[in-house]
Amino acid sequence: MDSTHIILIVMDKNASFILKLVLVSICANNWIISQLTGASNTGRSLKTIRCNETSLLLGMQLCGEYFKDQMKPIDQKNWCNLSYFIWEYHHFSTCTENFTVSEGCFWPNPLVQSYIIDIHKHYFSNCSLDQVIWEDPPDDTLAILILIPVILTILMIALVVWCSKRNDIFL
Ligand SMILES: *[C@@H]1O[C@H](CO)[C@@H](O)[C@H](O)[C@H]1NC(C)=O
Ligand SMILES: *[C@@H]1O[C@H](CO)[C@@H](O)[C@H](O)[C@H]1NC(C)=O
Ligand SMILES: *[C@@H]1O[C@H](CO)[C@@H](O)[C@H](O)[C@H]1NC(C)=O
Repeated sequence: MDSTHIILIVMDKNASFILKLVLVSICANNWIISQLTGASNTGRSLKTIRCNETSLLLGMQLCGEYFKDQMKPIDQKNWCNLSYFIWEYHHFSTCTENFTVSEGCFWPNPLVQSYIIDIHKHYFSNCSLDQVIWEDPPDDTLAILILIPVILTILMIALVVWCSKRNDIFL
């Protein structure tokens, strides 16, 4: 499970702080992916595919419909317990992310973000922070859980930049 997406669920409380972290790490992850794929595929995808917001929105709706179908058999009283739908949520977040990238759209993308936030409002608006995350984590644990992927992402960026600089020297 991509931890950035677990964090999105608990956005209500520390909304702006967590949202910023999520945006930074999503942005960085996709930048890394584009760097990595771009290396074998120089510039092609950026030139040929342009973000089409109409079909992007259609794709989001498909991901959302699928998620709603998956959530149907789950009793509403369990909607705050991630262990009941962690795979369904994982599929939803992967679906939106893959679709955005395959449509040639960028993260963070306001359209996709607001769609995901709508889904969250619908399913998780009544959940409190310690209900969603495992039983009552102390604040330190939560901070570490949030910071680990962010730090890893920053390290990855540094690594990718360093590698691409080395490549430039060799080319
Ligand atoms: C965007 O996608 C929609 C639906 O797939 C299509 O009807 C429309 O022509 C596309 N627009 C552009 C500019 O490609
Ligand atoms: C969530 O569901 C699991 C599995 O039924 C259960 O073990 C756990 O105690 C639940 N957690 C909360 C916070 O209700
Ligand atoms: C949240 O609580 C309100 C009021 O109790 C209720 O009407 C609504 O259906 C609940 N939403 C969810 C997603 O549980």
